[in-house]
Amino acid sequence: MAIKTVKDISVSGKRCFVRCDFNVPVDPNGTITDYSRIVGALPTLQYLVENKAKVILASHLGRPKAGPAPEFSLAPVAKALAEKLGKPVTFLNDCIGPEVEAAVAAMNDGDVILLENVRFYKGEEKNDPALSQKFAAMADVFVNDAFGTAHRAHCSTAGIAEFIKGDKVSGFLIEDELKFLGEKTASPDRPFTVILGGAKVSDKIMVIDALLEKADAILIGGAMAYTFAVAQGAKVGSSMNEPDKAETALSAIAKAKAKGVKFLLPVDHVITDKLDFAGKAVGELKVVEGDIPDGWMGVDIGPKTVALYSAEIAASKTVLWNGPMGVFEIKAVAKGTFAVAKAVAEAEACSIIGGGDSVKAINKSGYGSQVTFMSTGGGASLEFLEGKALPGVEVLDRK
Ligand code: 3PG
Repeated sequence: MAIKTVKDISVSGKRCFVRCDFNVPVDPNGTITDYSRIVGALPTLQYLVENKAKVILASHLGRPKAGPAPEFSLAPVAKALAEKLGKPVTFLNDCIGPEVEAAVAAMNDGDVILLENVRFYKGEEKNDPALSQKFAAMADVFVNDAFGTAHRAHCSTAGIAEFIKGDKVSGFLIEDELKFLGEKTASPDRPFTVILGGAKVSDKIMVIDALLEKADAILIGGAMAYTFAVAQGAKVGSSMNEPDKAETALSAIAKAKAKGVKFLLPVDHVITDKLDFAGKAVGELKVVEGDIPDGWMGVDIGPKTVALYSAEIAASKTVLWNGPMGVFEIKAVAKGTFAVAKAVAEAEACSIIGGGDSVKAINKSGYGSQVTFMSTGGGASLEFLEGKALPGVEVLDRK
């Protein structure tokens, strides 16, 4: 059943505890290097401000292990948010306590407060009811818009819902994420093509399993492809692979066959004799079909694979992409990933980028603005695509 959103309730004059995922990358100078999650939260925040809610924002940033630490402060987010919202955002140095209570009590309708990192309290990640109660006590309504953290059952994402007296609803970001990663892939316009990349079969096997039930074609890339190659008896030189996942890989291929799902693996590889990830450099490059010689490793899909995958993507009506095709962080071997990004962007299809590295890759390729939807989730997107229930969504009111 559909989740209630802020549009289904009255927010005027109400204190809304809004959980966002402002876990953004911040460099050592305190500069935010990717604003996607802040931008993603804006529609909900603008709506709440326009509809005269008292907006109390909460988030985590990073994984602080020992209480407050300046490098995990949300202060830079408050500044960025104020600029993007075009109105003051009051930043508080704590997320509970007398100072917070006084600030909330003094709020006018339409005001915005950002609380300090909720993970500065140990109870947050333990879903400690005492902390959840404190969060609930400062608000009338719980709005969850933190899709990226919806797979965590923490106080500010889930626990608070038990104690809040009023409505528990989602914001527009979670609504969109559920629509694109959920509904659009559950009843897709067909053909529905899934492109899966990344390093490990073990990270993606549950996603593969779940998507084999829905997709018409699955295209594999990234280092994961070498595990499939090894399982089928090919040689992969020194390419990253998981020999102990051979059976898992073979059973995915068998399941695809049984279900009539096209399961495509790379037909050629870009290989190198040297990879220095930190130095962003590779050695000599070659394209091979079949076995990869000893001392060489696969770092990208080859041109024949690009052509094959691009044709498959172009013929699709729904495309879901999760995981790069190679080491796209290094320009010399980013071609395959960027070609897939181009094909996804140019397809006359609903194109969904499933979060994490694929979002970075499509943005880096320059095609980011041409896709239908980009997920703001990493682990949350994967768990949701695996078919798991997300605690931060489960606790919300149904329509
Ligand atoms: C993320 O970046 O994936 C989310 O913000 C969740 O962060 P976490 O993995 O530290 O819980």
